[in-house]
Formats: sequence, C-alpha cells, structure tokens
Amino acid sequence: MVNQKKLNTTDINTFKNKTFYTETDTQTRELGKKFASILKPKDIVFFNGDLGAGKTTFIQGILSYFGIKKFVRSASFMLVSEFESKLCPIYHLDLYRLDENNTLDLGIDEYLFGDGISLIEWCDRLKYYNIKQRWEINIDYTDSGRKIKIERFL
Ligand SMILES: Nc1ncnc2c1ncn2[C@@H]1O[C@H](COP(=O)(O)OP(=O)(O)OP(=O)(O)O)[C@@H](O)[C@H]1O
Ligand SMILES: [Mg+2]
Repeated sequence: MVNQKKLNTTDINTFKNKTFYTETDTQTRELGKKFASILKPKDIVFFNGDLGAGKTTFIQGILSYFGIKKFVRSASFMLVSEFESKLCPIYHLDLYRLDENNTLDLGIDEYLFGDGISLIEWCDRLKYYNIKQRWEINIDYTDSGRKIKIERFL
C-alpha cells in the first residue's frame, strides 16, 4: 500500500546539499519553517552570511515550526536565547559580539552538547570546538534576493 503521508513528507534529502533562492523575507521564513521539520534533538545548525543577510529571519521560520511565537531578532546584546518546544529545547546563539578566544569560558558546551537543537549565528567564533557533525546554512545576497545554500556535514 502506498503511504500517502510519506509521499508528502519532506525529508533530509529535500535540504541536504541543496540551494534555494528567496525574493522576500517571508519566503526565507517559509523555507526555515520547512527545514525545521527535519531537525532532531542534538542537531547543530551553523549560519553563515553577512550582516543583514537573513540568518535571524531563517531562524524565525524554524522557531515558528516549533510553535514558538515569541519575537526573535538579531539580539547582538544577548548571546543565547532558550526556547521550549514539544520536541526538545531550542537554543539560538548569536555570537557576533563574542571574541573567539573567550568561547571556551562561556559554558556554551551546555548548549552544544546537550539534548536540544542549537541554531548558531556567527559560528566562526566557535572554531576551537571543531564541530564536525552539523548542518550549515550559507546565505548570500543576490540581485533579486538571497541565495540559501544548505549543507550537511557528518
Ligand atoms: N529574501 C530575503 N530573505 C531574508 N531577509 C530578507 C530578504 N529580503 C530582504 N530581507 C531583509 O533583510 C533583513 C535580514 O535581517 P536578519 O536580521 O534576518 O539578518 P541577519 O543575517 O540575522 O543579520 P545579523 O548578522 O545582523 O544578525 C531583514 O530586514 C529582511 O526583511
Ligand atoms: Mg541575526
């Protein structure tokens, strides 16, 4: 018997090493929402992209999938925002202000190696952690919007 539900489900291959183009922030949020459906506890997602590229916008979409409506913004004054979801805790780490030499003192391990999903902006600050297993989302400006490349590293 054909499993209809399965046919309609997005799975990891929908996103693994794929590139998407969005023209508006709403489209980027929608992409984030779809991507969220394949995330599992302990997943780490790195976001790369210049200031204002759309990292937080994509993350807003992920959080909305998990029913988190609280406004999320580029909180450069706040390092970690913690959210509860039915699946697991979700951590939004915005490391923009972080000096890469200070990351080891910060107790970030609790987030990275806990049971939650970690969504990390400005992950280059974490280079000493050498995290291998991760999703990586690269957002670039284009003439008509954004190019969003999603990669899976194991
Ligand atoms: N296609 C698009 N996708 C995402 N954002 C877009 C798009 N087009 C325009 N924008 C606008 O670009 C901005 C993206 O801001 P956002 O805070 O998500 O960026 P960011 O990468 O998190 O920046 P920061 O490095 O400062 O944290 C928003 O103002 C959004 O409305
Ligand atoms: Mg941001």
